[in-house]
Amino acid sequence: MNTDTATIQTFEHDVVIIGAGGAGLRAAIECSAQGLDTAVVCKSLLGKAHTVMAEGGAAAALGHNDPRDNWKVHFRDTMRGGKFLNHWRMAELHALHSADRIRELEEWGAVFDRNSDGYINQRPFGGHRYSRLAHTGDRTGLEILRTLQDHGVHQGIHVHQECTALTLLKDSDRISGVFGYWRDSGRFVVFKAKAVVISTGGAGKCWRITSNSWEYTGDGMEMAYSSGADLIDMEFTQFHPTGMVWPLSVRGILVTEGVRGEGGILLNSEGDRFMFRYIPDRFREETADSPEESQRWLEGETSARRPPELLTRDVVAKAILEEVDKGRGSPHGGAFLDIAGQRDAELIKRKLPSMYHQFRELAEVDITKEKMEVGPTLHYMMGGIAVDGETQMTSVPGLFACGECTGGMHGANRLGGNSLSDLLVFGWLAGRGVGVYIGALGNSPQVLSDQVEQARRDAVAPLNCDDGENPYLLHEELQYIMNKDCNIVRTGDGLERAIVELHKLKGKARRVQVSGASQYNPAWHEALSLRSMIVVAEAVALSALVRQESRGAHTRLDFDGEHEEWGKLNVVVSRQADGSMGVRKVDRGSPPDHLAAIAYSNLDSLEGGVHV
Ligand code: FUM
Repeated sequence: MNTDTATIQTFEHDVVIIGAGGAGLRAAIECSAQGLDTAVVCKSLLGKAHTVMAEGGAAAALGHNDPRDNWKVHFRDTMRGGKFLNHWRMAELHALHSADRIRELEEWGAVFDRNSDGYINQRPFGGHRYSRLAHTGDRTGLEILRTLQDHGVHQGIHVHQECTALTLLKDSDRISGVFGYWRDSGRFVVFKAKAVVISTGGAGKCWRITSNSWEYTGDGMEMAYSSGADLIDMEFTQFHPTGMVWPLSVRGILVTEGVRGEGGILLNSEGDRFMFRYIPDRFREETADSPEESQRWLEGETSARRPPELLTRDVVAKAILEEVDKGRGSPHGGAFLDIAGQRDAELIKRKLPSMYHQFRELAEVDITKEKMEVGPTLHYMMGGIAVDGETQMTSVPGLFACGECTGGMHGANRLGGNSLSDLLVFGWLAGRGVGVYIGALGNSPQVLSDQVEQARRDAVAPLNCDDGENPYLLHEELQYIMNKDCNIVRTGDGLERAIVELHKLKGKARRVQVSGASQYNPAWHEALSLRSMIVVAEAVALSALVRQESRGAHTRLDFDGEHEEWGKLNVVVSRQADGSMGVRKVDRGSPPDHLAAIAYSNLDSLEGGVHV
C-alpha cells in the first residue's frame, strides 16, 4: 500500500479529544463551552464505551441517604481504599467536586433513581462508609454516557467515529495533532490541533478474562508514552471480584457490585459465607462480624456495620481466589453470589434489571431464584498517564489526559463508583486546563510532514510484510503471559519470566503480517493495537517487579503486606532515548497536612460536615 502524505485527508480543530467515553465527552463539553472548536475522535461508534460497565453508580457525597456523609468522609474512604498511595490533590479534588458534577448531570437530563424523599437515591458500595452511589438501576454508566452525548452533540462538538488514533504529532516539544485512520476504508487522516486530550480508558484486552470489550487496548497510554509522557503506578490493575464465569463464551462479563450493594452475599461450595474470614484489620472496626449484624444493616439499622461482601475489591477478589485454590470453589472455578435468598423477586428485577436479563439470556439462570457463579475479572487500571492534578496536562505541552487512562487518583485500589465521578471531575478539569493552555499559546504549532510520513510507514508495515507472524496468535500469547505471570497474585520469578516472554513477543510483533488491503481489514486493526498492548503489558510487568510489597491490587507472594517505605514511592515508566522502557522509583513527598489530618482521622471528627 502506498499513500502520498500530501493527499492525506486533514481536519483542523482547536482541540482533539481521543476517546468518547465519559471522560472524553465531559472534557469535550467543557472545551466547547469555552468557545473552542472541539472534536472527539473515537475508535468505536459514539456511545460504545467502557463507561457503561460502571453499572452500579457514581460515588458522590450528596448526603441524601445518610446526612453524616460529606466530602471529607468520601476523601478518607478513597485514600483508605487506595491504601494511601493516591495522588493527594487529585483525591481531594475528586471528593470536593463529585457532588456538583452529579447535580449538573441531572440538570442536563440524566434520570437517577429517587429515594422516598424524592432526592437522588444512593446505594452502598464496597469501601464507601455511607450509601453514596447515585444510580440508575444497574445501568448508571449508560445513563451518564447518554446524557453527556446528548449534551455534547447539542453543544456543537464534532464527532469523528470509527477512527483509530495511532500517533501524536509534535512541533518541537509541543503537541500539534494526531495521525490516525478510518476503520472502514483504511484511509489515513490527520487532525491538526493546538491541544490533544487522551481519554481512551484502559487496556483490559491484555488479559484473557476481562470485563473490557475489544476497544480497550491501551492505545492512549502507548501514544502518550511514545511522545514523552510518563506512566505511573502501572502495577495496580484492578480485578473486579464478580465477573461471570459460565458459560465460557461470556467469561469475564461484569456482574455489578450493585448486587452486593443491594444485599447479595458470597458463598463457597460448602455453603459457607466465607467473607467473614477475610476481614483485614484496617476495616475490622467498620465491618459486620456476623450474618445477624449484616442482616440488621440490610434492614436499615444505622448502627449496624456493613457486610464483609462490601469490603474493597482487592480484598474480595483475593478471597474468592483463595477459596477456589483451597478446593471450595463453584463448579466452574468461582464463588456463588446469592441475591435470591436475600431480596424478593420484585425488588431484584426493579433494582437490577440488567443483571436479571444478563443471566437469563447468557447463562439461563434466574437470579430471583438461583445463585450466580462469579469470579474475578480484569476491570480497570489504576495506573496510567501521569498528569498534573489541577490541569490534567502531562509533561508534554498541550497533551492532556483524563479518566481511566491516567494514573494516581485511585492509588493502589479504586473504590467502585469512583470511576464515574472521576471521569466527570477530571474530564471537566481537563477541559478547563485546555482552555488555559490554548489561551496562553502564542503561535500555533505546525504539523510536520516527515512525522506524518513516518507514522504512515509504521502503520502500513504489517500490510507490506511477506512472511511474518499472525496478529491474533500473538494477542493470545500476550494474554497467556499476563494471565500466567501478571495476574491477581504475582511473584518475582513469574514477573521476570513475563518480561522475558514479552521481549520475545515484541520481536515477533515487529514482523507481524496481515494479508489483504487496508479496507475493512480487522487483522490489520489487530496488528496495530497489538503494539499498544505490548507496551502497556511491559509497563505493568516491569512496575510490578519493581514494587516489592503487597498493596491493594498488587499482591506479591514473595513480599507480604504493605511496607512503609513503599508508601512513599511511585513507580514511573518512561521511554528512553534508545527506545527502551525505563522504570524508576520516585519519591512522593510528604502529604499536605490538612489532607493527612482527614485521611488518618477517626470518623467522628468528620461526620455531619457541610455538603459542598
Ligand atoms: O460493579 C460495578 O457496577 C462497577 C462499577 C465501577 O467499576 O465503578
